[in-house]
Amino acid sequence: MKILRMNYVQTLIITVIATLLLVPNICCSEETGTSKTLIIVYSRTGKSMLAAQTLKAQLNADLLEIKDLEDRSGTLGYIGAGYDAFFDRHTAIAPQKADLSPYSNIIIISPIWNWKLSTPIHTFIDNNRFDGKQVIMVTTGNNDIRKYELYDDSAPFLKRFFRDYIRGKSQSVRSYVTANGGYFIKHYHVETLETPDKEIITRTAKHVENIKNDFSVTTAQREQEDSRLIQIAGNK
Ligand SMILES: Cc1cc2nc3c(=O)[nH]c(=O)nc-3n(C[C@H](O)[C@H](O)[C@H](O)COP(=O)(O)O)c2cc1C
Repeated sequence: MKILRMNYVQTLIITVIATLLLVPNICCSEETGTSKTLIIVYSRTGKSMLAAQTLKAQLNADLLEIKDLEDRSGTLGYIGAGYDAFFDRHTAIAPQKADLSPYSNIIIISPIWNWKLSTPIHTFIDNNRFDGKQVIMVTTGNNDIRKYELYDDSAPFLKRFFRDYIRGKSQSVRSYVTANGGYFIKHYHVETLETPDKEIITRTAKHVENIKNDFSVTTAQREQEDSRLIQIAGNK
């Protein structure tokens, strides 16, 4: 009888301890696991980093800086950067790879080089897998790349040419991510030409609410919606 009572007490104690250990894991799994956001950034002259720091502060995200081991300073560095971007070349970066497993939301921030992603960011995307991750791209550049989107087919040839050229580049940004397993959600752009730091911060901060909304939908929900739309299209 005494043995039996001890077993009962022991069982009770073990149950209480197990509950105490498990409850924090259950209640905090959202904070420590699936909804964490990582910002991945490369910046040659500091503007993309400014955008990254702004989003980091407002989204409570982690930040990973990609360093280019190639010297990109001065005129020669500029020319080399343009050449590498134009020909879709890779470069030596650090880190080459990162453990993305704790994150389901990824924001990639890059300067635009020749209407493409900067070479270090392109290299990083190709070196890593983004399966199951929702990816948002934020680019910084001299001009607002969306201004050409305004032109329809009645616009003069040159404007239509630029519109289609930039559309092609924008699609290639998306395809870098999807080719490496990511779920591409949206592309935001911050114009930086002759823009004071304070204004870059303000322009970046304007995207915060939209980014929060974008990430409020899970990959599973998006995939469900995609297959619903595909089914509707198939039934037509
Ligand atoms: C090689 C090179 C090519 C660039 N090409 C473009 C371009 O095609 N369109 C654009 O709007 N800005 C272009 N820029 C300007 C940068 O995208 C812009 O200054 C950016 O905000 C710099 O970011 P960072 O300070 O983080 O390096 C180019 C800059 C470099 C170095």
